[in-house]
Amino acid sequence: MSIDYPLFVSTWTFGKPANEQSLKVFQGGGSILDAVEQGIHVAEADASNPSVGLGGIPNAEGVVQLDACIMDGEGQRAGSVAAIEGILHPISVARRVMDNTKHVMLAGDGARQFALAQGFASVELLTEERRTEWEQWRVQNHPPDNHDTIALLGLDSTGRLAGGCSTSGWGYKLPGRVGDSPIIGSGLYVDGEIGAAGATGLGENVMRYCASFLVVEYMRQGLHPEEACSATIRRVIAADPRPAEELALNFVALDKQGRYGAAGTGRGFEYAVTYPGYSQVLQSAALSDTDVGPEGGNRR
Ligand code: GLY
Repeated sequence: MSIDYPLFVSTWTFGKPANEQSLKVFQGGGSILDAVEQGIHVAEADASNPSVGLGGIPNAEGVVQLDACIMDGEGQRAGSVAAIEGILHPISVARRVMDNTKHVMLAGDGARQFALAQGFASVELLTEERRTEWEQWRVQNHPPDNHDTIALLGLDSTGRLAGGCSTSGWGYKLPGRVGDSPIIGSGLYVDGEIGAAGATGLGENVMRYCASFLVVEYMRQGLHPEEACSATIRRVIAADPRPAEELALNFVALDKQGRYGAAGTGRGFEYAVTYPGYSQVLQSAALSDTDVGPEGGNRR
């Protein structure tokens, strides 16, 4: 079956309904950028999803702080918000930063005040379920196991690329902690001439290596998107002293030719691919400590 356009690729099983919304938005006359933004709304508004938007796991003080960014391959435009509180759709605030300001990134209360001035409503993002879990966490101090960011990439039939990502980040993080997701080149990178890549997993390990930028650079060198994700992970495995399992790195990628793929450490992860007539959850490539290639450099 040949690929039709628009094509959407995103992280995790919850990427599938997000992709399907993106397709609907595009088929309703939206641009690929509109489609990416509004697809991500699905994950942000889903209170049962503990790692994105409403119902996200709060920080150590019980406050939900969200990170998001968006990129338009046309004109290499970008917008981002970090540690924003009380706004349902940080991806749309990121888009307003891109469209309506001279800046790329707003953080903390400045981002929230900008959102309010742009007409976004103030909402309570902490659900009762997450509050109860947070109260238990304060007593037991068990580590949460959740960095399931949505990164969603789109390509239309004219070759226009866009991408976005959104997350509540590391559960019970220190207040003010910012992960990879709003950092252009770390949690997301779109090069309008080459392709797009997005990350999910332990943001600190993505940020140290500018890893989504690296995935796109490997595609620029001619690697297939899946191989570009794998090469990036092999390089980090080679450079980082910790075992691959601890790195929790996962990438999706899409090139301008409509090829796509994903790779992750450990058992890998599930990602979603959607285009007209097709919408499926697929399994990524999986990499471990033994997968260190020549591009990896010296294993310390
Ligand atoms: N990848 C999401 C985060 O670590 O914040």
